[in-house]
Parts: sequence; C-alpha cells; structure tokens
Amino acid sequence: MSERVPTGIDGLDALIKGGFLRGDVILVAGGTGSGKTIFSTQFIYKGATQYGENGVYATFEEDAKTLKRNMFNFGFDLGRLEQKGAIKVIDLEVLKGEGLSANIQFILGALDEIDGKRLVIDSLTAFLTACPERFEYRMLMRLIYRMLKTRGITTIITCSVPVGAETLGLGIEEFLADSVVCLENVVDSLELRTRFLICKMRGTDHSRKYHNVTITDKGLQIVPFTIT
Ligand SMILES: Nc1ncnc2c1ncn2[C@@H]1O[C@H](COP(=O)(O)OP(=O)(O)OP(=O)(O)O)[C@@H](O)[C@H]1O
Ligand SMILES: [Mg+2]
Repeated sequence: MSERVPTGIDGLDALIKGGFLRGDVILVAGGTGSGKTIFSTQFIYKGATQYGENGVYATFEEDAKTLKRNMFNFGFDLGRLEQKGAIKVIDLEVLKGEGLSANIQFILGALDEIDGKRLVIDSLTAFLTACPERFEYRMLMRLIYRMLKTRGITTIITCSVPVGAETLGLGIEEFLADSVVCLENVVDSLELRTRFLICKMRGTDHSRKYHNVTITDKGLQIVPFTIT
C-alpha cells in the first residue's frame, strides 16, 4: 500500500485519494499571484502543526522576512515553528553565485538538522538561475530527485508560468515531477479568478476537472467543482 501525505490544502485531498504519495516531487505551476507561495507554505505549516512532519521552506523569491510577514496574515506563524525546530525557512539568495550543488547541499543539510519530511523550493525558475550549465543542472536534479525519494521527503517545487505559455518551458516536467498541478489566473466577467487543475499525478486516479481556488484569511482552499 502506498502511503499518502495529507496536503493541508482544504478540498484537495479528496480529489487525489487522500494526499500526495510519500517521497514524490510535485510541481506547482502558475502565473504571478496565483497562490503558489501560499499553497506551498500551507503544505509546510500544516505538515508541522497537524501531521507531525517537519519541513524546510527554501525561498528564492521573497526574502525570508517578507515571506514570514505575508504568511502571518493567514495565521501561519513560521517564526514560532522555526523556534520550536519544527520547520526551517532558508533564504537561498545568500548563496547567489555559489552554484547549484552548493544550494542542494544547503537544503539537504537543513533537512538533516530537523529531520524534515517535507520540502518546498520556491521557485524552480529562480533556483535554476544558480546553474547556468544546462547539462549539470539535469544531472544534479536527477541526483536530488533520487535522494529525496530514498529519504521519503515529499517535495513541492513551484514554477512561474508566463501568461499564454503552452508548456512550462523548463524541460524537466517529464522526468523530474511525479505530479504537476496548475493554478491558473482567469479573468471572468471582469473579475480575476483562479482555477486549479491536476495535470498529472503518477500512481493516482485523480480528478480531471477544473476546480475553483479561494484565498481567505485562513489560507488557500480548493472548492471542488460539482454538477448542480
Ligand atoms: N489576506 C488575503 N486574503 C485574500 N487573498 C489574499 C490575501 N493575501 C494575498 N492574497 C492573494 O494572494 C495572492 C498572492 O499569492 P502568492 O504570493 O501565493 O502568489 P504566487 O503565485 O506565489 O505569486 P508570485 O508568482 O508573485 O510568486 C495575491 O495576489 C492576492 O490575490
Ligand atoms: Mg510566490
């Protein structure tokens, strides 16, 4: 029996047979402001507070202080969890120019320190700027993928998708990600909405429908599409 890891995202687990598969890499793709960071933080926060799984949040986008401030709005007190040793927020900007393998070492070291079972890399797009060499990057990503699998660490990697893009354009989704989920901004009747689609989830008979996304002061929620 495969072990399911509850996502902490309200409404999602019911669409994917109870959660992500342990040790999987899930790509969360979406346009700007579509909720990728909130989704990922919630996965780490709920993992630590509700499911007894420590986690590492590696940010390349917002600096750690800004991330903590923004996420506090949803009641996600990352600073408190960090003090307790349940999570670690690492700001990879400090390793800029050091190369991809230094970044990977840093992340694995942080996971070891707190015996982390969940990892977020926000975002892959920014992470890869640490590695100008395409060949090295593919090799290293394969290596990290194997390592995370062996250790049973469930990982979310976010990925920014430009408006109108047909593919994620990274050339990694086919081999690196066990799952790809998309948060899509749509303008509907002069209103900005976000919808959610599971594009692939290996090993899971998942929903194939679009669902609505709502963001409230409690975080991000998937509102399942139902025929009325
Ligand atoms: N308190 C709140 N209540 C409701 N919606 C909010 C609240 N705070 C932020 N939002 C929404 O969440 C969006 C930001 O979400 P998030 O930072 O997760 O997006 P993102 O996909 O990571 O964006 P980026 O590509 O810029 O990193 C805001 O643009 C806003 O629409
Ligand atoms: Mg973000």
